Amino acid sequence: MHIKIGVLASGRGSNFQSIINAIENKEIDAEIVLLITDNPEAYAIKRAINHGIEFIVMIPDNYPSKDLYFKEIANELRKRKVDLVVLAGFMRIVKKPLIEAFPMKIMNIHPALLPSFPGLHSQKQAIEYGVKISGCTVHFVDEGMDTGPIIIQAAVPVFHDDTDETLSERILKMEHKIFPEAIKLYSENRLEVEGRIVKIKEKGNIGKDDILINPKL
Ligand code: GRF
Repeated sequence: MHIKIGVLASGRGSNFQSIINAIENKEIDAEIVLLITDNPEAYAIKRAINHGIEFIVMIPDNYPSKDLYFKEIANELRKRKVDLVVLAGFMRIVKKPLIEAFPMKIMNIHPALLPSFPGLHSQKQAIEYGVKISGCTVHFVDEGMDTGPIIIQAAVPVFHDDTDETLSERILKMEHKIFPEAIKLYSENRLEVEGRIVKIKEKGNIGKDDILINPKL
């Protein structure tokens, strides 16, 4: 299924780039129709320009409340008929009006193995805690902070001489693999959410309804 993606990003946008690349390499049947950023300096804007992707800068302080800010974001995404919203380093907690407009249609990437180390500076938290394995998580977004149903995780080792930078770099490489992978699964309609559990359906695992809709399968 060809899907329309809206991306929200606040900074460097390397995850945004990994998704652009996967689409351009035809690994995902999708198009990114809009980038929304809360930061006029975000490098993600440059990436959008380089790839001919429309972008809008929306600064929260220019809105009377956080709820209205996210309502406006939801409106912009709806106007462009977005199927999936991707948070690629968007440094804000998403509020109800956006979550309700796109239920289980918003994905986030987090640089730790959730539910460990939610929130900010997860790599530093992991080092300071002394864990030997960390990683990254792609999850659907609910109203909590990094609490929604988990789609994919990838693990990396943590070494005793790691710094925030070395661990972040090791994790980021995995982020760039699993985020496009999760989006691909979504675009293939292979993610089924039951409460907290996300089931990944095998390719070709066709439900009764699909058979009725497309008897050729
Ligand atoms: C990534 O580490 C991501 O996990 C976190 O914010 C960072 C964004 O990096 N949510 P980038 O902007 O995608 O390069």
